[in-house]
Amino acid sequence: MKKVIEVEHLTKKYKDFIAVSDLSFDVEEGEVLGLLGPNGSGKSTTINCLLSLLNYEDGIIKILGQVMSSTNYDVKKDIGVIFQDIAVFEELTVYENIDYFCGLYIEDKQLRKEYVIEAIKLVGLEDFQKFYPKQLSGGLLRRLNIACGIAHKPKIIFLDEPTVAVDPQSRENILAGILNLRKKGATILYTTHYMEEVEMICDRVIILDKGKIIASGSPLELKNLAKIEEKVTIEDISLKKTDLEKIKSLKNVEEVSYNKTTLIITYKKGQHNLPLLVEFLKKENLEYQRIFSERPTLNDVFLELTGKELRD
Ligand SMILES: Nc1ncnc2c1ncn2[C@@H]1O[C@H](COP(=O)(O)OP(=O)(O)OP(=O)(O)O)[C@@H](O)[C@H]1O
Ligand SMILES: [Mg+2]
Repeated sequence: MKKVIEVEHLTKKYKDFIAVSDLSFDVEEGEVLGLLGPNGSGKSTTINCLLSLLNYEDGIIKILGQVMSSTNYDVKKDIGVIFQDIAVFEELTVYENIDYFCGLYIEDKQLRKEYVIEAIKLVGLEDFQKFYPKQLSGGLLRRLNIACGIAHKPKIIFLDEPTVAVDPQSRENILAGILNLRKKGATILYTTHYMEEVEMICDRVIILDKGKIIASGSPLELKNLAKIEEKVTIEDISLKKTDLEKIKSLKNVEEVSYNKTTLIITYKKGQHNLPLLVEFLKKENLEYQRIFSERPTLNDVFLELTGKELRD
């Protein structure tokens, strides 16, 4: 597989503060790579360094085999960027905005028209082509922001938290659009602090914390790093200390946490735990409202590695 992004030992400081520390990774052609990390972990800084929008202290960045610099227009035309902060023109309509950004790269008017219409379809803004940005909801505005970044059909797309503060319908639309772009052959670098998104769309994930890579691999490989194999939650249950002790000593139980009326039990191994637990609760006459079992998530892995939650 061809490497289209190569990052070696990237270090970026803001004065004395090290925002990104000795970061090395590659992205292969056609891959969706997720940069997952909590607020302030260095995701946007990394993207801005990759795009040569920021100077950095150390490191080598190659895109499409060429050393990246702010004046490397040959590479820049193959890149589409969707920034975390929305950047569109208030005085232009949806159609005109996309046409403007596409026009920076595509001169042929007929071809550009086709590309703009395709981008509008991809993000589902067909009914809003004549709207101005201030007439759009937050979710629709994010979709416009994306359409502006991808209309010229770039080979590599950087998306920095494109789903923050959008409604569920727009989120779904945005994620489906990204998968569609991948299907058409784009390579995508996607930052987020939503682990569910990473699980849905990323082939490979790098988990960042405080500017450092703390784990990387496919979503499945990362989840296999978790010490636990199953997590059972019981809601609205009233327990005494002695009940908790008994639960702790059940087979495969790794940890038990009881907060107000919710009990969470993590298991080292993930087989037949739920039926055994239900049987135990019945035998002990312990009543509850709801019980459910989950596989470990990337959040659990993050929690184990750093001692804190991904989402703050
Ligand atoms: N211009 C700047 N000057 C000084 N410090 C900065 C600057 N930009 C970012 N930082 C700091 O660098 C660290 C990394 O910031 P960055 O914006 O890259 O994180 P992020 O992972 O993108 O976070 P978020 O999820 O909030 O977007 C943070 O601690 C932030 O406060
Ligand atoms: Mg950011």
